[in-house]
Amino acid sequence: MHLIRSFTLSVLIIGCFSGTLVAQSYHASTVSARGTQAASDPWWKHAVIYEIYPRSFQDSNGDGIGDLNGITERLDYLQTLGIDAIWLTPINPSPQVDFGYDVTDYNAIDPAYGTLADFDRLVAEAKKRDIHILLDMVMNHTSNQHPWFIESRSSTDNPKRDWYVWRGGKLDGTPPNNPPTNWISSFGHNGWQWDPKTQQYYWHHFYIEQPDLNWENPAVEKAVFDSFRFWMNRGVGGFRLDAVTALFEDPQLRDAKLLPGHNSYGDQLQDNSYYSNLPREHDVMRRLRRLTDTYPGDIVLVGETRLPTEELSRWYGGAKHDELQLPMDLAFGFIDKMDLQQFRHLLSEAEFHLDGNQPLFVFNNHDRPRSLDRYGDGVHNPQIARLLAALLLTTKSAAMMYYGEELGMVTTPPKRKEDVKDPIGRYGWPVQKGRDGERTPMQWDASTSAGFSQAASTWLPLPPSYTTVNVAAALKDPNSLLNWYKQLIAMRRTVPSIHRGDITILNADHPAVLAYARHIEGAPSTLVAMNFTAQPQSITLDAAKHGVSGSHVKTLMSSAGELKSNMSVSFTLPPFATWIGSLTK
Ligand code: GLC
Repeated sequence: MHLIRSFTLSVLIIGCFSGTLVAQSYHASTVSARGTQAASDPWWKHAVIYEIYPRSFQDSNGDGIGDLNGITERLDYLQTLGIDAIWLTPINPSPQVDFGYDVTDYNAIDPAYGTLADFDRLVAEAKKRDIHILLDMVMNHTSNQHPWFIESRSSTDNPKRDWYVWRGGKLDGTPPNNPPTNWISSFGHNGWQWDPKTQQYYWHHFYIEQPDLNWENPAVEKAVFDSFRFWMNRGVGGFRLDAVTALFEDPQLRDAKLLPGHNSYGDQLQDNSYYSNLPREHDVMRRLRRLTDTYPGDIVLVGETRLPTEELSRWYGGAKHDELQLPMDLAFGFIDKMDLQQFRHLLSEAEFHLDGNQPLFVFNNHDRPRSLDRYGDGVHNPQIARLLAALLLTTKSAAMMYYGEELGMVTTPPKRKEDVKDPIGRYGWPVQKGRDGERTPMQWDASTSAGFSQAASTWLPLPPSYTTVNVAAALKDPNSLLNWYKQLIAMRRTVPSIHRGDITILNADHPAVLAYARHIEGAPSTLVAMNFTAQPQSITLDAAKHGVSGSHVKTLMSSAGELKSNMSVSFTLPPFATWIGSLTK
């Protein structure tokens, strides 16, 4: 996979709005079948990880729900897109209250998605295409239907009682109104649930049906770590650790400090530091990393970590690099407005203040409205989508994308409360409509059910846009967003300076344009400039001032067709345009 050879790669680069084609060729001196790669870099370091919500990607058996065989059928598409890994949201058996994030057996596959044999086939077929499969590990909680919890709640002296967080009441009132603390669940309201049979409360950071495991108990760690072994033995490339900052709670059960404002369920906001991001979590992460490192293949640990940069660094193990390799930066991609100052600030934080660790950027996932609904202005959405894609794929960061992002799929929330599938959409209706809108089926083609399923009715309805926004149509259109993503990913693999070069922020005072250079010894530098406004913006890139020099500037990719292929470092960017060029001596 790391075969180094040298050849000249011709890439057709396409101006996206005027319909003009800008053909470029560039020389990549150290290129392998998978692109340019420093021999010492583990595979995940520059990876593009593609999140699949299995219910919604491809249904192979006509029941209206996506499944593992469906994903296997679509691997060729993913290979052509150029991704390195697939993260599957949970596929374990589950009552599906939280669509898999409520597990009843960590070592099996939910029959709705297939069998272990189907999973093994998916891993093997993905491997043939150099694609790693990452599983979601729901470490913080199980389903309340998990045999461990059924035992635990059966009596106070059951051997599994201490596998969950059980406590007596404390606050004023009588059960069920005197919970041990005032802590609120992420999904609204006090997170302690009264159990009339055993006369205690259990803690649930999420839904009532998702009791928290007690990570103070070594037996819990052993059981969960055994499941990591189970899946590593089946050849997975790594894990995404769900809600991993929620494992521990304050042993003294101190009440949270109240903050001004309310959440969408009407609860007063509070400081969650007594039940989130506790120091003990790092001990578990170090032990987990020691375990995964005993397996071959550079197993990667990705974390669901919504934290400021200085905290995020601790999840890598700081300068020791002995915890997660890729805790997600869930601040950068969720700024939720085209705010250049914030992007520039968080970009430099992530690139320069992570103790030499590798950032992981993400703009879309199954928990948040899709990026076009958060960043689009309704007028320049095609340009904004291309800008976000370039930002995701041309910095030093590893990149995570979400199925359908490459098509510009938009959020389609339910119109009526009775259609809502995600429980929080029912609790919080109409302020909180839940997460169904970003989980709609993948839009493959314009046929009935969008090529997602043979069933007339799918588990979530298809957004009406599928007749025009779909893979088949995008593949035929050289100017499509899908082709823009493909070109960016191909370039990220084959252009050494983008693949693994350093980054220097340019024109740091420019009020409207984000610009940076990627550079590496012995290969052309790459310049990137993005207009964050709806007005044209002039810029003279100050690369030379930063020691990134060269006299020939050529356009590699541009979302503004009017920019010429041969350029200088001074130009005007149309509204929300993205320009990527090479700089050679
Ligand atoms: C994570 C998942 C989310 C789930 C929650 C509880 O935040 O991304 O979908 O509901 O954990 O498991």
